[in-house]
Amino acid sequence: MLSDAEKAAVQSLWAKASGNVNAIGAEALERLFESFPQTKTYFSHFDLSHGSHDLQVHGGKVLGAIGEATKHLDNLESALSKLSDLHAYNLRVDPGNFKLLSHAIQVTFASHFRTEFDATAQAAWDKFLSYVSAILTSKYR
Ligand code: HEM
Repeated sequence: MLSDAEKAAVQSLWAKASGNVNAIGAEALERLFESFPQTKTYFSHFDLSHGSHDLQVHGGKVLGAIGEATKHLDNLESALSKLSDLHAYNLRVDPGNFKLLSHAIQVTFASHFRTEFDATAQAAWDKFLSYVSAILTSKYR
């Protein structure tokens, strides 16, 4: 699990990002789709053009869920239980894609929060996002 210092690093960066979830979320998705085009196959019903309403809304949902998870760091599994059901039973997203999204989120943070998202903060976020991903893919079989 995350150490107290890692929890603090996750939460303090979130405090910076939380005011801008749609834009940051949309950018993370855009980076995901540009760098790893195979991930677009799950979103054929979306308009994925730069700055689209769909990207903003979905980016806001994804990042919002991550922000909510930062408030439940001692209880991530139950906090993410519904989303875990959705991704495993309904969406059946290939688990490998979670690493790609986690990467895109980190690059987006680095470009927005150059000073705050230092190596320590990134390591904490990488660990946190890998827990989130593990939970969202835990019910696949
Ligand atoms: C839907 C979060 C990873 C594909 C959602 C929703 C949230 C969410 C909050 C909306 C649920 C609702 O409307 O009730 C997350 C988080 C992720 C993650 C926190 C990892 C950190 C992924 C990945 C993919 C993916 C890697 C595929 C590349 C989808 C799809 C939907 C969805 C296709 C449904 C979109 C729609 O039709 O509205 N996700 N997600 N998710 N997610 Fe994820």
